[in-house]
Amino acid sequence: MVCLGNICRSPLAEGILQSKVDADTVFVDSAGTAAYHVGNKPDERSIEVAAKYGLNIRNQRARKFEVKDFDEFDIIFAMDESNYQNILMLARNEEDEQKVKMILNESNPNENLSVPDPYYGGNQGFENVYTMLDEACNIISKKI
Ligand code: 4NP
Repeated sequence: MVCLGNICRSPLAEGILQSKVDADTVFVDSAGTAAYHVGNKPDERSIEVAAKYGLNIRNQRARKFEVKDFDEFDIIFAMDESNYQNILMLARNEEDEQKVKMILNESNPNENLSVPDPYYGGNQGFENVYTMLDEACNIISKKI
């Protein structure tokens, strides 16, 4: 799960998907395309909305997406178009490129919709992000 800062959207996506799959067989992680928040815990507003729905994401720590993530993960979900392009720029070959998907295409196929960045907004933005990611992760968890 990849967003820009790895403190708002992708930590929620990680927590939501991990809660819907078997932890012994599916490993879910998240990262950011930017390094501003490396080592930080998720934004308090993401922690709160996750807690409201029974998920604890407060032990996550932000990290930057690395080229070796293409070797370690089977699918890489980008939260928005800009993250998608930035991940693709790091792809070394077609196999890497094919791992990268826009997460909302799971729930809204072929529409290339972005999960809006909630960082500069209020709590409602985080609630909206949660709802969108929960819907997409329901579909992802059924597929895997
Ligand atoms: P995220 O949100 O990409 O969903 O983690 C953001 C977090 C921080 C910033 C931007 C977006 N920032 O500019 O610091």
